[in-house]
Amino acid sequence: MAFSALSKLVLLASVLGVANAQYWIFGGSRPIVTTRLDPVISPGSVSSHVHSVVGASRFKDVYDPADLLQSNCTTIPVQPDKSNYWAPQLYHQDQKTGALTPIPTTFNIYYLMRNGPSQQPIKAFPDGLRMIAGDTNRRSYNSSSHADQAITFVCQDFSGAHDNDPDWAERPNFFDHNCPDGMRAQVFFPSCWDGVNLDSADHKSHMSYPIQNFNGGDCPDTHPVQLISLFYEMMTTVDKFDFWGPGTWVLANGDTTGYGHHADFQNGWEGDLLQDAIDQCTDVVANVMDCPPLAANFNQASADACVLETQVVAEDTGFSSPLKVLPGCNPLWDGTGPRPTCSGLSTPPLVPAQTPLPTGWTEVGCIAEGTNGRALTGASTTSPTMTRAACASFCASKGFALAGVEFSDECYCDNQMRNGASKSTVTWNECTNRCAGNSNEICGGPMRLTLLTVN
Ligand SMILES: *[C@@H]1O[C@H](CO)[C@@H](O)[C@H](O)[C@H]1NC(C)=O
Ligand SMILES: *[C@@H]1O[C@H](CO)[C@@H](O)[C@H](O)[C@H]1NC(C)=O
Repeated sequence: MAFSALSKLVLLASVLGVANAQYWIFGGSRPIVTTRLDPVISPGSVSSHVHSVVGASRFKDVYDPADLLQSNCTTIPVQPDKSNYWAPQLYHQDQKTGALTPIPTTFNIYYLMRNGPSQQPIKAFPDGLRMIAGDTNRRSYNSSSHADQAITFVCQDFSGAHDNDPDWAERPNFFDHNCPDGMRAQVFFPSCWDGVNLDSADHKSHMSYPIQNFNGGDCPDTHPVQLISLFYEMMTTVDKFDFWGPGTWVLANGDTTGYGHHADFQNGWEGDLLQDAIDQCTDVVANVMDCPPLAANFNQASADACVLETQVVAEDTGFSSPLKVLPGCNPLWDGTGPRPTCSGLSTPPLVPAQTPLPTGWTEVGCIAEGTNGRALTGASTTSPTMTRAACASFCASKGFALAGVEFSDECYCDNQMRNGASKSTVTWNECTNRCAGNSNEICGGPMRLTLLTVN
């Protein structure tokens, strides 16, 4: 991460009003997928609304901790954290047409070492723990409920022009104006565990907020184990879209108020690393690199190159063109009047996240371009719908046995490697370009080809 981005995060942390100083941030973490799955709420099926999901590459419709730990990679820079972190995708509604466009999103994931006056020891998440915070059906605010206090929005204006303006202060629902430097949708998870159950029927009651505050304090006798505190900032670039009033912003669950924001977590930390970090990093303030056990496992290149290994729901989430209606049954609703209903909906199937290659074709891996010309010179094409499969099919149709994709949308073919190039792969994470026709898939990198061959 660039230094300037990091110092910005430190500033944001001071906005948070951190009580205990020790915490780290997985800053600017990229969603690995945006799809209608939720293994905690809707295991084994398509979920009710679209989520923006950060983390491990084996995220799928069920939470299987052992399988999740087999993930190749995660979009979190500390690669042994194979957890997933998710929240509803935020959409922008066009005032005239009602068309819905997903607002680009990244997450800052905070791990905060907080306890209360009795200084209970802080524990890592137990293997298999999952939980949710917030309530998708809520459309109002109870100011004495810790659960409601834990869901907040921040309107970013780095100019400082609105620092003391109450209309711009952190609040439990959407603002009535745009945010010049983006909006943060924030969720603070309960940190007290009952010590027994890894989940519960409502995915909440095995956890509790602390006694004193939603974001810190002693754990109640019913939930005596103090876990590390988890806090997500979902960063949304609302400033890139116009603001026209209530209804401008819509969560994927149809909520136009923001009160129905929520988030989910499923634990995928390997071994004792999280507990080691908690025990050893008593001085860390925001920067992961100041925590030796985490720094030793920091690999941003692997996070950048990580792609989903599993399946997605076969439906458009709006990233290629704006949607007329939100996926699932999620008519827009601000909580006034009866909730609108849906009819005639069918459930789309799951399909592989990576477009399957034509029969006989396999991926060799990430290779370097030729040193004095292109590696593959037999034929070439570019396409806004390029995938590895599309390139392999094109090369096959021209009678070639080698295909290489580069810079997201370029396809090259040949029967041999030329100009000093070879089939020896370089580190897979040097190929970081998403395919133009499938953002779940990699199509080469700068001077790097994803090479495919037919046997
Ligand atoms: C990821 O894992 C799958 C098996 O689940 C394997 O086929 C694939 O080559 C791996 N990808 C990378 C980039 O390591
Ligand atoms: C508000 O929250 C408090 C604390 O959880 C609870 O006791 C009270 O019943 C809630 N009020 C309403 C109207 O739900």
